[in-house]
Amino acid sequence: MRVIILFLFPFLLNSTFAYNILIYSPAFATSHMNFMAHLADTLTEAGHNVTFLVPMSDEKLRDRIKVQTKNIIIVDQDEIQKSNKCSGMNKMMQSLWTHIDSPETNRARFKLFGNQTVETCANLLRNSEIFERLRKVGFDAAITESLSICGLAYFKKLGIDRTIIATSCTMFDNIMQLIGEPDHPSYVPALQSLYTEKMNLYQRYQNSKYSISLQKTMREIFDLEIQLFSKWDISNWHDFYSETSLVFVNSNPYIDFPRPIIQKTIAIGGISVNVDKIKSQKLSEEWNNILDKRSQNMLISFGSIAKSMDMPIEWRTNILKVIETFPNVTFIWKYESDELKWANDIENVVFSKWTPQTTLLGDKRVTAFLTHGGLGSTNELAYLGKPAIMIPIFGDQMRNANMLERHNGAIKLSKFDLANFELVEKSINNILNDEKYFKNAEKLAHLLSKQPMKPKETVIKYVEFVSEFGPFPTMDPYSRNMSKIQIYMLDIYFIMFLSYSILLFAFLVFGRFLYNYLNFRILFYRNKID
Ligand SMILES: *[C@@H]1O[C@H](CO)[C@@H](O)[C@H](O)[C@H]1NC(C)=O
Ligand SMILES: *[C@@H]1O[C@H](CO)[C@@H](O)[C@H](O)[C@H]1NC(C)=O
Ligand SMILES: *[C@@H]1O[C@H](CO)[C@@H](O)[C@H](O)[C@H]1NC(C)=O
Ligand SMILES: *[C@@H]1O[C@H](CO)[C@@H](O)[C@H](O)[C@H]1NC(C)=O
Repeated sequence: MRVIILFLFPFLLNSTFAYNILIYSPAFATSHMNFMAHLADTLTEAGHNVTFLVPMSDEKLRDRIKVQTKNIIIVDQDEIQKSNKCSGMNKMMQSLWTHIDSPETNRARFKLFGNQTVETCANLLRNSEIFERLRKVGFDAAITESLSICGLAYFKKLGIDRTIIATSCTMFDNIMQLIGEPDHPSYVPALQSLYTEKMNLYQRYQNSKYSISLQKTMREIFDLEIQLFSKWDISNWHDFYSETSLVFVNSNPYIDFPRPIIQKTIAIGGISVNVDKIKSQKLSEEWNNILDKRSQNMLISFGSIAKSMDMPIEWRTNILKVIETFPNVTFIWKYESDELKWANDIENVVFSKWTPQTTLLGDKRVTAFLTHGGLGSTNELAYLGKPAIMIPIFGDQMRNANMLERHNGAIKLSKFDLANFELVEKSINNILNDEKYFKNAEKLAHLLSKQPMKPKETVIKYVEFVSEFGPFPTMDPYSRNMSKIQIYMLDIYFIMFLSYSILLFAFLVFGRFLYNYLNFRILFYRNKID
């Protein structure tokens, strides 16, 4: 009897608590899509019926959609979206290598992205067949990627009010502002900021500009997207974010810069790193042979957006010259082209268009990683405990590099340093041979393996909770309805200042009066005596 109950119990649990969950994940960049897919897989593994809705922003990403659930709905581009494609995306990506980061240039870069986002949303709305299909399901909750307001407006149209935003980056400055989370650019680096938490006067000014510029950029995109919904009487998106039940952030409190958050913000940083699975994966014989060849191995990858093959030729040549000075180290370089004549004579470098990155990082024979510091790679480094050289190229990568460097297991360089032979050589030598980096990286990984709440558990518990009880209007901080003057109590400080000033003034007037009076009396008596 007991055996039967034990067998039945997990099944009963699954069937009673299986929720219908919709996940909106537009295909515009691999890293964002992977993050949303990990959320989906976590919920599918917990027995929920996940529907993964993928509007195609970028057709090239079709093979990268990897998710366990069978309910995948891909929204193909129609002729209108195809013909409205903005040219210049490839050119923009190539220019990222030498792009000089500033709040203004970042905004200009987002223009193309905004166009793509709006066109993707318009295409989704033209597809009434998918809408009808989804409307019939009756979803308990829905989760959307945060770089577009289309998901939340679409959920509204579908009549789903238990919603969650998920950001595959650390907190976005515009989300903070929209949900009423305290925003302190004086010591919290903005998402695309170049600085750490220790900033001088000028840097604090710049940091706040980074924050404001991102808010403005997103506002412009959302304004365009929401116009598409005017037919359905949806015109104002300003309360959409605060109406959601939760915000999942790809940030981990033990890795990220400390900052104040509201109770709706739930950190799930590291959800995409499944350490046990990575450590149990086996490398192919080919990769094993490569790793066994020399005593040390170093992986080099700049991610999938800024391609290694597009980097300035002088930087590429410089890296190769440095590699030549480490004959006992094998360098594995993720490189996208077969045109390799420039590196033909060097023995200790292996070029590969694709690398099993996580499996390599989980392997003891790989000593260190040279990376662009995308958040995916940054979290992998933290959880797998590998020392790294981080060379951020654009976007949030500077912040990620600064964030990990604080734990003393990584060295940060500027991308422009790639032209500097001595510096690159010294950094690689340090990261490979100075025990300090290895020990600190391992310490962080150990800590993360023991953190009290695992990201996966957190996601399952919170999504189930929202599916049952959301939304939570009482969790909306009242600060959203207050002016900055009220929030920072400037009115009260002003009144206090005014009262003390009046008191001081009265005191001075009285003092002067007393002084004059006494003077007069003294004179009067003197005169009398005389
Ligand atoms: C699971 O979701 C799909 C929509 O993607 C729906 O058609 C199906 O009925 C759902 N299954 C259950 C058991 O609710
Ligand atoms: C996007 O760019 C294309 C080509 O430049 C243009 O035709 C289209 O109207 C733009 N879409 C939006 C929403 O701005
Ligand atoms: C490489 O290893 C060999 C043999 O272990 C050693 O003799 C040589 O000095 C090493 N070279 C460098 C540059 O470390
Ligand atoms: C802010 O004011 C609006 C309109 O008066 C109200 O609907 C909303 O509930 C208020 N928000 C909070 C957090 O009190």
